[in-house]
Amino acid sequence: MSGPSLKKTESHSSIHEAALNEAIELRNLYQKCLEDGEHEKALQVAEIAIEHWETRTLKHAEAEEEGLYKEMVEEKPALEKLVNQLTRDHDLMRRIVEDMKERLQTQKADYRMISLFDSLVIIDEIHNEDEMNKLLTNNET
Ligand SMILES: [Fe+2]
Ligand SMILES: [Fe+2]
Repeated sequence: MSGPSLKKTESHSSIHEAALNEAIELRNLYQKCLEDGEHEKALQVAEIAIEHWETRTLKHAEAEEEGLYKEMVEEKPALEKLVNQLTRDHDLMRRIVEDMKERLQTQKADYRMISLFDSLVIIDEIHNEDEMNKLLTNNET
């Protein structure tokens, strides 16, 4: 994702929304598989969901850190603290995704995975709000 479109609240926000909606659908599907006792299918869904977080939200985060965040701080050094906080949110999501990948290695589909999916969703929702309301709003160039 290139820099300019991430600077626009509308296009940036739609990237967030699309990824989050898909992530929530996969989380719900995982829960349904568990409830239906479909262990194998649950594992497959968890694998797809984790890959989804990696290829969408975490890739997006990487692009922000390499482009948008750097540019914003260069333009407005006062944004450095906020950018550090937003980067910490990315790190938390990375840590949770790593934890999930390790859990998947054990080939055990359990309810703890749902808590981890929910943690990702909650952190991402708060993070996206802050990107929109604190980083981009009033700072668009
Ligand atoms: Fe972000
Ligand atoms: Fe973002």
